[in-house]
Amino acid sequence: LASIEVDVSAIQPGQAIKASWRGKPVFIRNLTAAEQAEANKVPLSELRDPASLADRTAEGKANWLITLGVCTHLGCVPLGAAEGENKGDYGGYFCPCHGSHYDTAARIRKGPAPTNLEVPEYAFKSDTVVQIG
Ligand code: FES
Repeated sequence: LASIEVDVSAIQPGQAIKASWRGKPVFIRNLTAAEQAEANKVPLSELRDPASLADRTAEGKANWLITLGVCTHLGCVPLGAAEGENKGDYGGYFCPCHGSHYDTAARIRKGPAPTNLEVPEYAFKSDTVVQIG
């Protein structure tokens, strides 16, 4: 199966990029310390699709949030990965199609989407290069 390698060295904390993998958008986001703290303070019992930030990131790299950019409701591409886009009520991503709000761990918090944005298989090849797929 096809995999891609992405150089993440230029992505500053608070920024994200969109890559493309198997014809789908992938969001690669460098979370700020505040965004990580925001995700970590939410009790899992409050979540529709319970998962911690640690569950959704690589060990020792909790700042790198890598998810598909595909809303789990009906598949629109959420906003929030590009500069100035609406990140929604929880500071992560916002799907404008029917109003799903994802938090800073890309977990569904409000709106019709049933599950969190999917985390693809990936591995860091070095501190600055991640292989997706
Ligand atoms: Fe995202 Fe419906 S496709 S809210």
